[in-house]
Amino acid sequence: MRIAVLNGPNLNLLGQREPDIYGRDTLADVERAVREEAKRAGAEITWHQTNHEGEFLELVQGLRTTADGALVNAGAFTHTSLAIRDAMLAVRIPFVEVHLSNIFAREEARRHSLLADLAIGIVAGFGARSYLLGLQALVAHLRDRGA
Ligand code: DQA
Repeated sequence: MRIAVLNGPNLNLLGQREPDIYGRDTLADVERAVREEAKRAGAEITWHQTNHEGEFLELVQGLRTTADGALVNAGAFTHTSLAIRDAMLAVRIPFVEVHLSNIFAREEARRHSLLADLAIGIVAGFGARSYLLGLQALVAHLRDRGA
């Protein structure tokens, strides 16, 4: 089972960036934990982070041939990018939307996701653990579908 993890803008700054909101784990810490969890679950991980919308789009477009499912934290693109929504619609890959923070308990502009209705589900508000919970849910979903 091949799972791609896509991280959007500013997530490379995890650990230093607003730690009261996003926690003290770095993105490398999150990646390590996700890879360990994936090993336990028998899944293969590819991990990406980009600050560029065009690159994010290309990563999404590439999922069709390279992954069975995805964990997506599109960062601020979640709230703004119709282009990423369109790419997800084109690729139609099962994905779980993850966020470190609870976007629904934050400023108005963050309470809407352009991706959420396309996702299998969302995990938000559990810090780095959102990724692990999202991974467990995605693996179970793909297994149910016989992947
Ligand atoms: C985020 C929430 C977004 O609103 C924000 O722009 C991020 C991180 C999260 O993981 O909580 O960059 O996606």
